[in-house]
Amino acid sequence: MIRIPVATASRSYEVLLGSGLLAHAGERLGKMLGSRRVFVVTVAPVRRRWGKVLLRSLAESGMQADVLEMADGERFKRLATLEKLAEKLVKLGADRGAALIALGGGVVCDVTGFLASVYMRGVDVIQVPTTVLAQVDAAIGGKTGVNLRSGKNLLGTFHQPRAVLIDPGVLSTLPSREYRAGLYEALKCGIIGDADLFRLFEDRRREILDRDAAIVEKVIADSVRLKAAVVSADEREGGLRQVLNLGHTIGHALEAETRYTQLLHGEAVAWGMIAATHIALGTGKLDSVTAGRITSAILGFGRLPHMKVQTMGVVKRLHSDKKTRQGVVHFILPREIGKVEIVSDVPDAILRSAVEEIRKLAA
Ligand SMILES: NC(=O)c1ccc[n+]([C@@H]2O[C@H](COP(=O)([O-])OP(=O)(O)OC[C@H]3O[C@@H](n4cnc5c(N)ncnc54)[C@H](O)[C@@H]3O)[C@@H](O)[C@H]2O)c1
Ligand SMILES: [Zn+2]
Repeated sequence: MIRIPVATASRSYEVLLGSGLLAHAGERLGKMLGSRRVFVVTVAPVRRRWGKVLLRSLAESGMQADVLEMADGERFKRLATLEKLAEKLVKLGADRGAALIALGGGVVCDVTGFLASVYMRGVDVIQVPTTVLAQVDAAIGGKTGVNLRSGKNLLGTFHQPRAVLIDPGVLSTLPSREYRAGLYEALKCGIIGDADLFRLFEDRRREILDRDAAIVEKVIADSVRLKAAVVSADEREGGLRQVLNLGHTIGHALEAETRYTQLLHGEAVAWGMIAATHIALGTGKLDSVTAGRITSAILGFGRLPHMKVQTMGVVKRLHSDKKTRQGVVHFILPREIGKVEIVSDVPDAILRSAVEEIRKLAA
């Protein structure tokens, strides 16, 4: 088992990572939680496949666990879900000593983290992420949230978990599109700050796509290390944490322009990273060989889904973002493999040509 420390001002904790770890969750959490009651929040597809493994392990360690199921899908990442879950917790007798366990993808992690941060003014949460995206990103760092009709993640809190338990073995049942979409976020970690991780994607692509257990564990562990280091240095996104947004400025605009119906988040980030690479090339921050390596690594996972967007639609959206963010839109641009720079002003012509470029590739 690998242990990765996360040390933020509000709490220090560990990410425990290893294939098969879910079946030993009880041993790991028993010491931490003692005789406290635990409440597992999950969704049906995850409960069906992995619920028993977790519950058996908790029971073996003498822990009393109840399961609360929420509806599956991003559209249920709403305050209404939080309220329903809270009512259930009260009915089950959860008090201030309760601990919640989030077993699921990023949606479950975000909702459960939020719930834990406000239930009886705050209880502990343990994150047990089950998608690539949640393992390398959503479960670590303490950001929680739900969506409003007016936009994504507009309500939320910072609430660091007591611990994060990652079992890459659970990724075996993940639908392949979800699996791949999460990998783009892992590749992002390589581009931001880990050239060895990036090379792994270049050299061992087949094994990664075939979900070879040892390689997948390494990819997840290295990505988690990067995120853990960034979050430890900057819990609240004062500056450094922004580097995690590589590919996200344009990625978010693409998601919104396609009304969240054509691209998974990771896929939008993949397009966004290609655009960011193009901008870095256009502004002279990146050489063409490295730009080619980044683009090939992204496209090497196979075709990204088509998307129907207008260049001006995307650019306008970036400009309206600008109004809401005190006049600055930040772009995270690659300088070399493992190094990025935060840039706040990109000439419009270069921006347009980057969007044109991905539209061509997506046609
Ligand atoms: N808090 C953060 O820092 C942070 C960071 C990144 C993303 N997020 C959030 O994460 C969310 C997206 O997360 P996601 O991509 O994991 O989506 P998701 O949680 O909706 O999961 C995707 C699908 O996979 C299913 N699933 C999950 N694990 C499975 C498994 N092991 N086997 C089979 N099926 C499984 C789920 O039931 C769901 O249908 C977004 O809401 C995003 O805002 C949060
Ligand atoms: Zn992301």
